[in-house]
Amino acid sequence: MKGILLAAICCLFNEAVMAEPSSLVAWTPDTLNRLKKGNAEHGKELSGTCAGCHNETNANPQLDGQLPTYIYKQLVDYKNGNRKDPTTAMNGLASTLSDQDMTDVSAWYGQQAPIQGKGGGNDTTGIVFKGDGKRMEPSCSSCHGYSGQGEKVDTPRLAGQKADYLEKTLLAYKSGVRGNDIYSRMRLIASKLSDQEIKQLADYYSKLD
Ligand code: HEC
Ligand code: HEC
Repeated sequence: MKGILLAAICCLFNEAVMAEPSSLVAWTPDTLNRLKKGNAEHGKELSGTCAGCHNETNANPQLDGQLPTYIYKQLVDYKNGNRKDPTTAMNGLASTLSDQDMTDVSAWYGQQAPIQGKGGGNDTTGIVFKGDGKRMEPSCSSCHGYSGQGEKVDTPRLAGQKADYLEKTLLAYKSGVRGNDIYSRMRLIASKLSDQEIKQLADYYSKLD
């Protein structure tokens, strides 16, 4: 009995020690103040490197009008390896950026007008505004906002984002390939969605303007 108990304590302890944190970003007043003072002009210069990959002609996520705090967190997570880009492009690139660079480029993108969806989206899952009590699934709008505009500090804008990217990243949360969400919030939510619902939700948000 004692042995079993010891083994259990040992396992718990091991898990606590071994588990990788999902992110090293902490929203301290200091970090938030620094982000408010990002130099968008310097960020504009840096964005020249990003434009080839982040534009309307490919499947990579759009950054225009995204919350600067969210962009900054993702860049830090890529740099630290907490978020792994399957193509590794972002991990390589982020490792060349200083903390000031990440602050400034986030400020620049945050000031751009968001790309608008084409409209006509319907929530065919019923989850966007109501969630699903049977699965203990919260509504998406309770965090991402009524219009998918995102919320402070690190809940991203989804409205107008590319459908292929939204689907890909929701599937990545579901499988655990993407695990940089603090408290596993998105991993838990995505794990309860079918692949078909993920497709429908991606379609819905991509059409919002
Ligand atoms: C070689 C192509 C490439 C370049 C250059 C590039 N990116 Fe990316 N970026 C990607 C890909 C691919 C993804 C999606 C990766 C994934 O699924 O995690 C991505 C994802 C991101 C994300 C996450 C977006 C989200 O909605 O979660 C941010 C933020 C980002 N890039 C910022 C930048 C910035 C800033 C630059 C320039 C300093 C840049 N990227 C340059 C390819 C690129
Ligand atoms: C409890 C709050 C919460 C709820 C509810 C929620 N989200 Fe999220 N979501 C977040 C946060 C926080 C992030 C950013 C996590 C990170 O840093 O990776 C996020 C990230 C995302 C992303 C990644 C966007 C990008 O640009 O990479 C998608 C897509 C997404 N959520 C879709 C949804 C959908 C669809 C629902 C409803 C089924 C939903 N979320 C419900 C908090 C929430």
